[in-house]
Amino acid sequence: ASIDKGNYRHFMLKEIHEQPIVVAQTLGSYLRAVEEQVALPAMDADLSRISRVVIVACGTASYVGLIGKYWIERFARIPVEVDVASEFRYRDPVLDPSMLGIVVSQSGETADTLAALRHMKSAGLTTAGIVNVPSSSMAREVDLLLPTHAGPEIGVASTKAFTCQLAVMASLATMLARLRGLLSAADEAEIVRHLGEAPAAINAALAHDADIEAIGRRIMGARDVLYLGRGADYPLAMEGALKLKEISYIHAEGYAAGEMKHGPIALIDEHVPLIVIAPSGPWFEKTISNMHEAAARGAQVILISDARGIADAGEGPIATIEMPEVHPLIAPIVYSVPVQLLAYHVAVAKGTDVDQPRNLAKSVTVE
Ligand code: G6P
Repeated sequence: ASIDKGNYRHFMLKEIHEQPIVVAQTLGSYLRAVEEQVALPAMDADLSRISRVVIVACGTASYVGLIGKYWIERFARIPVEVDVASEFRYRDPVLDPSMLGIVVSQSGETADTLAALRHMKSAGLTTAGIVNVPSSSMAREVDLLLPTHAGPEIGVASTKAFTCQLAVMASLATMLARLRGLLSAADEAEIVRHLGEAPAAINAALAHDADIEAIGRRIMGARDVLYLGRGADYPLAMEGALKLKEISYIHAEGYAAGEMKHGPIALIDEHVPLIVIAPSGPWFEKTISNMHEAAARGAQVILISDARGIADAGEGPIATIEMPEVHPLIAPIVYSVPVQLLAYHVAVAKGTDVDQPRNLAKSVTVE
């Protein structure tokens, strides 16, 4: 069947709005609601015995890998390294068959990621793939296929595939934790409940579309935009910056909030919007103190947090985007929505070709 934009102006906007449904669809095949457990497709290899994990991907999918590192290390206590695929093979990484190699790819055809997968297999690793296109090369070649059910993604800038990849990564991290005996049934049930809340929370985030559009108009004239986050929200800051660059052609960088004072703070003046991703939770206070450092230097701070966080943050932001209060585990999934919508609305305000940005391809099948 051919795919159209329905009532949406762009595929990207349609795909952003599909996220409550496709994340629910994806989670539906990984969560057993009645048993309150996660479930993975059957496989031969024994995932309880892996010594290390290496995650390889390109672009937006590589940020899923970085968020996965936070989750897998925290819950399953397995060391994780993450590489962009174009670096992985050529740096001669130290690999052995006790490792699990994971590729993350919407298309399943990105040349560098596919080459990295083949390199892992030739080194004897057990391989898994978080892949959206079930008929793709990567889907066929991995030992363990962990499908996302995002449906076809047309917009060149990935949105719904990203949040579905995160949903699978969170399920995988939970499963690895259980297999290593690090998760009680009660803790697993709690994680399953929180993951199950993600689609409704995404829906609540989407309700702020109009506010985000207004903020987009305020920052569309910027030459540079900085994004800050901490913990698992730090890679989301990088994803936010990538989205903005890709479709609005504004230079943007995502930084670990605590690292700002080691460089990017030199860029800050009243012309630089600073997007601060700070859900209330374990890292909140520290991120907010970094926000105040930037606000004191004139940065136009846009704070994305929940009602409690916005209240606790005090003076500083010129605008806030209020998210529902969510468990830290699902925050990167839910906070993807305002980050995507902000890039989208800035691009629309600037009049760029949102679905087909210049020089970019949906699937890069050459190295
Ligand atoms: C291209 C797309 C990005 C995507 C990346 C990886 O650069 O424009 O949106 O993140 O490829 O693609 P994959 O299909 O492997 O996820």
